[in-house]
Amino acid sequence: MEKNFKRTLVTCALPYANGPIHIGHLAGVYVPADIYVRFLRLKGKEVLYICGSDEHGVPITIQARKRGCSPQEVVDEFHHIIDESFKGFGINFDIYGRTSSEVHAKNASEFFRKLYDEGKFISRESEQYFDPVANTFLADRYIVGTCPKCGAEGAYGDQCEKCGSTLSPEELINPKSKLSGAEPVKKKTTHWYLPLQDYESWLRQWILEGHKEWRSNVYGQVKSWLDGGLQPRAVTRDLDWGVPVPVEGAEGKVLYVWFDAPIGYISNTQELLPDTWEQWWKSEDTKLVHFIGKDNIVFHCIVFPSMLKAYGDGYILPENVPANEFLNLEGDKISTSKGWAVWANEYLEDFPGQQDVLRYVLTANAPETKDNDFSWKDFQARNNSELVAIFGNFVNRAVVLTHKYFGGKVPARGEMNDMDRETFAQIPLLKESMDRNIENYRFRDALKDAMSMARVGNKYISDTEPWKVAKTDMERTGTILNICLQLCADLAVAFEPFTPFAAARLREMLHSPLDWNLLGSTDILEEGHCLSEAKLLFSKIEDEQIQKQLDRLERLRQERIQREKEEDAKKVEPQKEEVSFEDFEAMDIRTATVLEAVKVPKTDKLLKLTIDTGLDTRTIVSGIAEYYSPEEMLGKQICILANLAPRTIKGIESKGMILMARQPDGKMRFITPAEVLANGARIG
Ligand code: MF3
Ligand code: ZN
Repeated sequence: MEKNFKRTLVTCALPYANGPIHIGHLAGVYVPADIYVRFLRLKGKEVLYICGSDEHGVPITIQARKRGCSPQEVVDEFHHIIDESFKGFGINFDIYGRTSSEVHAKNASEFFRKLYDEGKFISRESEQYFDPVANTFLADRYIVGTCPKCGAEGAYGDQCEKCGSTLSPEELINPKSKLSGAEPVKKKTTHWYLPLQDYESWLRQWILEGHKEWRSNVYGQVKSWLDGGLQPRAVTRDLDWGVPVPVEGAEGKVLYVWFDAPIGYISNTQELLPDTWEQWWKSEDTKLVHFIGKDNIVFHCIVFPSMLKAYGDGYILPENVPANEFLNLEGDKISTSKGWAVWANEYLEDFPGQQDVLRYVLTANAPETKDNDFSWKDFQARNNSELVAIFGNFVNRAVVLTHKYFGGKVPARGEMNDMDRETFAQIPLLKESMDRNIENYRFRDALKDAMSMARVGNKYISDTEPWKVAKTDMERTGTILNICLQLCADLAVAFEPFTPFAAARLREMLHSPLDWNLLGSTDILEEGHCLSEAKLLFSKIEDEQIQKQLDRLERLRQERIQREKEEDAKKVEPQKEEVSFEDFEAMDIRTATVLEAVKVPKTDKLLKLTIDTGLDTRTIVSGIAEYYSPEEMLGKQICILANLAPRTIKGIESKGMILMARQPDGKMRFITPAEVLANGARIG
């Protein structure tokens, strides 16, 4: 069914260079892509592995404003940090380019120009928000106001972060420019649009008919976009950061970041292979695979393919787009702006030499079919009870015993019994399953297969107990260890895509080959083959290390709660319905002084107050014991609603009510005149 391709072009979503990358990026895109690429290379396939920084767009300019520097400075800093993080995790792209490069500016510009010249765009005039003080059009993110859905302040023109609603700037109540604080005005502007609706039936044919095998989350999203009907999509913006629109009269306009960024895949390929790049992008023999997160699906399955289709000239389309869902962190959504993340660069510092552990955990827990959660306890458990206790422990026992009994040389394998043969027989089955799983982008399952191989080995050595057999039968001990060492050599191949650092250490220890074809054969290591000293493949992760991470997150959580409280404190209850002057006049509000205050027995909240109202001395029962002690109330001048109908509370008749102001945090404070007045003064 599947075409026979000659080569595979793998792209990874270009991360925005507005911050470091975190575990969500790694789990969603880069670790699975890296497994795929390593695996294909292991099988001897020709692969090109392309990524780079996405350096345009509003996320970058916002970060620059926040830090008070230029967008270029922001991308220079984070391009470098991200690049280093990838290398640190063993994710070695053939090129990690940048969309601020010259090659890209030229390429994206020419791409636009060709579509423009061929009449593939429509241009439209529309009204957009403009900041009259800063004298610039405002991107959605630069407009803030009150959310029409939940009433939260500070909602953005495209989204309310409080309630998660998708918004358009027009919907915001009291919109304000983030740049100057000014009220934005509507102003006419012209933009170019790609009429996506023209590509709809072609997209249906290609994906809905032709790629039913795509992951259901991807296929489903594409289907719902297509069923909803496609609209023309603007490919230009009024911004001063980006690739200038190469058209006369388009000064101050740049290509929309989602127009230029995917072209970045092509630009980066050109930069790496100026002479042969077309072989990768324009040959039917190339299999193109885009690794992305779920928020990128529409751009990679609908917009970019339509751009390429419009462009023509032999560009190929993706054969698959294995998008992952999202990874949460300790039960909460990862958020760069809120700092709720485990950053790749910080992990590399906190867990030196343990890159494989994170790769392993993020794969074992990959959000392939649904959102998933990362927790530090799970991280520790998977390291200690899987990598250390199964894989590491097996290898260590096999190698240490070989040194102990056979001077570090692979012993001869004598007659095999049923258990020996059954043990060997499991490996090719797991190998085949792993192969099938990776080819079909099921990396979690593929990792399970590799781990099952380690379990086979660990069980075999535990069941056969060569350390006991060695007391009586050296020949049988040799047979057992020979088998164990062949299995170790299998693991050094099988784990290369998942935990490449440990796999390499293991191959160094065994002096074993990295050859997919040998995996599962019973004679990878010949009798007499020399091993190096045993070294631990994995080490235990201690509680203190985990606690340190949990403490950090707990601090963030507390900070966030504090921040939210402060934001809530700024919130004001909406105004009540209108009342008439007569309604107001009907209320008899007076000053009064507290003469006595006692707690009402058997209640927490009630105080019984005896007050001098100027008219009389009376009793009021009030629910203020939560906020004031009886002593605090004594002698205080207060305001009361005097003519409220009497009520009996806990057997005490209460005549009137104390006026209190409710604080944003719910606390109540009584109202007192600014200077001491005569009791009974009428307020109104
Ligand atoms: N920067 C985008 C993001 O982080 C991804 C861009 S992918 C590309 O969501 F195709 F546009 F390059
Ligand atoms: Zn809202």
